[in-house]
Amino acid sequence: MTDSKRDNLFANPLGKVSGFVFDQAVVDVFPDMISRSVPGYETILSHTGELAYRYVQPQTNCYDLGCSLGASTLAISQRVADRDAKIIAVDNSSAMLEKCASILAASNTSAEIQLINGDICDIEISNASLVVMNFTLQFVPLAQRPQLLEKIYQGLNPGGCLIISEKLSFEPESLNTLLSELHHDFKRAQGYSDLEISQKRDSIENVLVPETLETHIQRLRACGFQSASPWFQCFNFCSLVAIK
Ligand SMILES: C[S@@+](CC[C@H](N)C(=O)[O-])C[C@H]1O[C@@H](n2cnc3c(N)ncnc32)[C@H](O)[C@@H]1O
Repeated sequence: MTDSKRDNLFANPLGKVSGFVFDQAVVDVFPDMISRSVPGYETILSHTGELAYRYVQPQTNCYDLGCSLGASTLAISQRVADRDAKIIAVDNSSAMLEKCASILAASNTSAEIQLINGDICDIEISNASLVVMNFTLQFVPLAQRPQLLEKIYQGLNPGGCLIISEKLSFEPESLNTLLSELHHDFKRAQGYSDLEISQKRDSIENVLVPETLETHIQRLRACGFQSASPWFQCFNFCSLVAIK
């Protein structure tokens, strides 16, 4: 999607590992970090575009919540540029949004795109035919998640589509351990060292709080979505689609 420096943020021993934040250092390596850390990331991105093609309606809004550098926004825009729909991309990291703006400006997209620097829990959602949260809900405090999903449901038009991609937790703990070890094997195969894997895990623990697939589905059902299902899973990473 864009030139990215190699992610070596956790390559050297850090005396004290700080909690993960989406700051300039992360922005500089983000495309490399996410593609070597999330199995299936490219598949999820390209199918975000395919789902957009199916669900985005003329004169409606599409939301990319937690847009980072705009990868999902670009995937959507490439498939619906001629639909007369507006894409609203939201992130609360100024560093991310600034770089996102320059990436979008350099792209050849003709779609109408509005960037909002704000908390996805505070923004208004209305007249939506598509809402995408690719690897963002997991960073929202647990207590705010039901209210956020309810707001998204209310802002979607009937027949509208919600895509949620997340890291999952599993029960029993033995299954959780197996899937997280398979994920760490994937990261090793992508060139991350054991030190990088363990320091990143310490940094992101308590910042990224995964939930079970059952919790996601039950919450979507409780909001009123007529259907909700995973459409992709690799190890402990999953993408769900829910239709209002
Ligand atoms: C893992 S990244 C998302 C990746 C991106 N969706 C993609 O597909 O490339 C998570 C993003 O969510 C943003 N974020 C986390 N919590 C947020 C919140 N409450 N409001 C807005 N953005 C948030 C972070 O700043 C970060 O850029």
